[in-house]
Amino acid sequence: MNPGFTFTPERAATTAGEVDAVFYFILLVTGLFALGVWVAMLYLAIRYRRRSEQDRPREIHGSLVLELAWTLIPLGLMMTMFVWGAKVYFHLNRPPDDAMTVTVVAKRWMWKLQHPTGQREINELHVPLGRAVRLVLTSEDAIHSFFVPAFRIKKDVMPGRYNVAWFRATKLGTYHLFCAEYCGTEHARMGGRIVVMEPGAYQAWLAAGPQPESPVAAGERLFTALNCASCHQPDSAARGPLLAGVSGRTVRLASGGTVVADDAYLRESIVNPAARIVAGYQPVMPTFQGQVSEEQLIALVAYLRSLPAPAQALPVAAASGGPAAKGGETGR
Ligand code: CUA
Repeated sequence: MNPGFTFTPERAATTAGEVDAVFYFILLVTGLFALGVWVAMLYLAIRYRRRSEQDRPREIHGSLVLELAWTLIPLGLMMTMFVWGAKVYFHLNRPPDDAMTVTVVAKRWMWKLQHPTGQREINELHVPLGRAVRLVLTSEDAIHSFFVPAFRIKKDVMPGRYNVAWFRATKLGTYHLFCAEYCGTEHARMGGRIVVMEPGAYQAWLAAGPQPESPVAAGERLFTALNCASCHQPDSAARGPLLAGVSGRTVRLASGGTVVADDAYLRESIVNPAARIVAGYQPVMPTFQGQVSEEQLIALVAYLRSLPAPAQALPVAAASGGPAAKGGETGR
């Protein structure tokens, strides 16, 4: 932890330096301009003060050079901030392909985290050094915000949505996790810590506890327990579309139009199946709202994502012509 006061938190992730660079650039530019305005104001107020009742200022006509200068210089500075800021923003919101996925479910007033291998933690997350960690965040109740100052990541955690953030830790240690969105009485105490370990130590840590069910295995078990396959079956009367390989595909809808079957769409199809029906099917599926928890929804979606596409083309999926390679918020 930081002894004493520091101007910014320590940097413990690859993106921290990028965020700081933009921040310092904006601080420098706005600081210098603020200083310039104050100095000019003070100087001009004294230099051109009214010296007598009869004092009349000299008439001034425009100066093209001056006007161009005070238009183009700020434009250049602002565009630099915009382009640079956008570049860092996109980088922060596009997890690398090799990232391991940790799911985060926020609940008043705690953080429930699960590793891809199934291990669960509360208000604490152990991660290996140097490995990209993709966080899929959702909430069971209010809006929360997942904030780790040392990694310079802060992402809203919202009910009914899967938001994504990522980091790659660069320094061993323990870092604060905060909830940065007021979410009720115990908001201020809704914190935790991220423990960055050597990859070997992380593997040992994973192996040390009980060996839990992975989200994919839990999802498969639920899929069976909830009887999903009685309709989503290739050889049944096919009351529901076949789900193998559906994740990430562009799906044609009964209402016309298409949707990319990302995590959010799969989740919606479980809790609110009538919202966007696949073309060729009737809205006969009952809702599972309230019957499956957020963790179970995550497991079901993880299971569906793990299903390989069957050899022949799916009836539900149109040829992938849509915006399939979409990164960001709901990207996989
Ligand atoms: Cu959760 Cu504030």
